[in-house]
Amino acid sequence: MTPLERANNVSDLRLMARRRLPRPIFDYIDGGADDEVSLRRNVAAFADYELIPDVLNDVTEIRTETSIFGQPSRWPLMLSPTGLTRMFHGQAELAVAGAAAHHGLLYSLSTMGTTRLEDLAQAFAGPKVFQIYIFKDRGLTAEFVARCRAAGFHGLALTVDTPVAGNRERDRVSGLSMPPKLTVRSLLSFLRHPGWSVPAMTGSKFDLANVSHKVDALASGPMSLFDYIGGQFDRSIGWREVEWLAREWDGPLAIKGVMTPEDAHRSIASGATGVMISNHGGRQLDGAPAPVDQIEAVREAVGDAADVICDGGIRRGSDVVKALALGATACSIGRPYLYGLAAGGEPGVNRVLTILRAEFNRTLTLAGINDIAALSLRHVHNRL
Ligand code: FNR
Repeated sequence: MTPLERANNVSDLRLMARRRLPRPIFDYIDGGADDEVSLRRNVAAFADYELIPDVLNDVTEIRTETSIFGQPSRWPLMLSPTGLTRMFHGQAELAVAGAAAHHGLLYSLSTMGTTRLEDLAQAFAGPKVFQIYIFKDRGLTAEFVARCRAAGFHGLALTVDTPVAGNRERDRVSGLSMPPKLTVRSLLSFLRHPGWSVPAMTGSKFDLANVSHKVDALASGPMSLFDYIGGQFDRSIGWREVEWLAREWDGPLAIKGVMTPEDAHRSIASGATGVMISNHGGRQLDGAPAPVDQIEAVREAVGDAADVICDGGIRRGSDVVKALALGATACSIGRPYLYGLAAGGEPGVNRVLTILRAEFNRTLTLAGINDIAALSLRHVHNRL
């Protein structure tokens, strides 16, 4: 049995990632904003929901296929966008997208990713979403839309919970900076992990592949790439910009970071086809509610047609079953696949997806559900 095969659950893979990665890098994945209240709550909130099983229902076959962003998905899970992925493993986004394609799931590439969107699209024909921001330079956003269309991306996710970067104190304590710099403290931690290949640390320029063409001219200046990009987020944007993006893209578009039924309704009215209920995995506004607690109200606000994706805190396949019963179309994961990636590259991501899929199917079988379309509010109960 390989070490990956010995991992029983997401929690085991998290521990493997912690052993493999230098501490500052692990903390960058694992941490959240301020006191990490939302980070913890995202996960804990799932435990407040009980699953109410049906019995004596034929569960020899379980139907789990669905459609997200208008694309087929083997079961209702997708992979959220995460930036700087090359820091966690040299195979970076290609490993994650490869595992997603292998499992028949949608993959999302972050604007802050370390693989060019064209390269990713060329490597994988599977369904893919690009996570976009509205930059001060609207030309840059429009350019992304055109590049995504040309490369064959199927959907866009507009992240709206990041007008400024959240306060990640673990990163400051651990000495991690973007792009990564060697401080005495971080150097000691890196030296303790000689097995970790250090693609991000070898050059002075950390390559945010999708935007670097814009900032090459700045590379020699005093500003880091990350500062430059951060400075490009437009804090003045409103619903007009969502309408503009929806027109410009004219395809499946989810607003990522929506938390309330009002904003969900407004998203759809502004031309989006779905929402990702998300607090950015507890990395932005600490104190924001857990996504799972918002599903029921959001679904009621947007009706049946829109995609409602619960993003954050999913650590078990049973969490996905609960989210679906509350009204979600699907769930999306960030850290779980990053733990797998850090623990073992593409096979590590495959292991996470295999574990979650097995848990999902087992939970449905035990709950007497033979078709995910049959899941409804009567299958879930909040015990609080
Ligand atoms: C993220 N997330 C994120 N979201 C986004 O819209 N753009 C991005 O570039 C990133 N980058 C990023 C990096 C890392 C290391 C993490 C952990 C997360 C947020 C991500 O898409 C998703 O919302 C959360 O990860 C979901 O929560 P869980 O699954 O990590 O609990």
